[in-house]
Amino acid sequence: MGTGLILGIESSCDETSAAVVREGGEVLSNVVASQLIHSNYGGVVPELASREHLRAIVPVVRAALEKAEKTYADLDAIAVTEGPGLAGALLVGITFAKSLAFGLELPLIAVNHLEGHIHAVLMDAASEFAQASALLALVVSGGHTHLYLATRDGDTWRYRNVGKTLDDAAGEAFDKAAKLLGLPYPGGPWMDALAAHGDPKAVPFSFAQIKEKATGNTAPKLARETSSDDERFDLSFSGIKTAVRRYVEVHGMAGRVAEREKLLRDNGLLTTKPGNAETLALALAFVDDQTRNLIASFQASVTAYLTRTLFAAAARYGAQGVLVSGGVAANSELRRRMTAEAERRKLPIAFPAISLSTDNAAMIAAAAWPKFVHKQFAGSTLEPVPQLRLG
Ligand code: KG4
Ligand code: ZN
Repeated sequence: MGTGLILGIESSCDETSAAVVREGGEVLSNVVASQLIHSNYGGVVPELASREHLRAIVPVVRAALEKAEKTYADLDAIAVTEGPGLAGALLVGITFAKSLAFGLELPLIAVNHLEGHIHAVLMDAASEFAQASALLALVVSGGHTHLYLATRDGDTWRYRNVGKTLDDAAGEAFDKAAKLLGLPYPGGPWMDALAAHGDPKAVPFSFAQIKEKATGNTAPKLARETSSDDERFDLSFSGIKTAVRRYVEVHGMAGRVAEREKLLRDNGLLTTKPGNAETLALALAFVDDQTRNLIASFQASVTAYLTRTLFAAAARYGAQGVLVSGGVAANSELRRRMTAEAERRKLPIAFPAISLSTDNAAMIAAAAWPKFVHKQFAGSTLEPVPQLRLG
């Protein structure tokens, strides 16, 4: 006891994760069990997610302690994701964490999943942002696309939402476009891998009009830019999804999509990630030039749109740095574009380590640290809040 060790537990969507983190910064272990079963359905099936969490939670927590070479007796607190997320999935983590905290007589800390994603970056980027009192944070994943203005408040941060998607999340757009092209779920990593082998200028997708329409903002640009303190930077991704669907129809690609789906299924590729050379080689063999060009164009336009919006918001709110987190922050083109733009504007930028980009418990334990220090504990009445907001 007393060495600042927090056990974090995360179960908001389709990964069951547990981690041991010291003082919000030193990751002793971070075990993530991904539920590949959803790949067979092309999306997360909530009932299956809860069942898989129940199955995984005990071995995952044990593995996290073992890897950290700690026992329950070494812990100072238990932190768990309160929301947002799937109700049944959150419930598994919360119930387990509550019981552990009660049994071990340890404080329980409730963490907002979105704040967790921000801490996935902050835990490693303390030095980059040491001088900054205001940051612009983009949390971009399969379920969320949010822009937060984070302002320093003593040893912690306050958040204000200054933009969000009005329809699909950016990761969802990647996943839906991938599905339309007959690629495995989640499609984001596949799109990233395949985009490198296509021509990003082949299909001229456009976001400018979508944004105007989606925000319903018909005021002249100048008036909008000089407006009050609460200017918003909302986004929309449903238009590009429709554009991909139409492109597939118009160019008679549907037959090839069905064929590709079958080939991937028959070759057992639906539940794999494009991580190794063999999988990528097989995927490339199944994906024709026209589809690769479409993928490259899609990714170029989505990542340019996110980059534009992030830096416009950062400039508008006078942020002294930007950070990007969530599953889509793993996208290689997004990182490249945003890093270049940050350099151009002489703004420090930080991303999480790739392993901390997607859902994990280390970020939950890290976000819990300031709450532990300030004794902000949750009661035994803690319940999932599926629609929990930040800022
Ligand atoms: O943060 P995360 O694990 O879960 C949510 O909270 O949603 O993010 C998962 C999302 C999926 O939509 C996945 O396709 C996307 O992140 N993703 C990517 C990449 N890696 C994961 N999208 C684009 N490029 C990637 N490399
Ligand atoms: Zn997430």
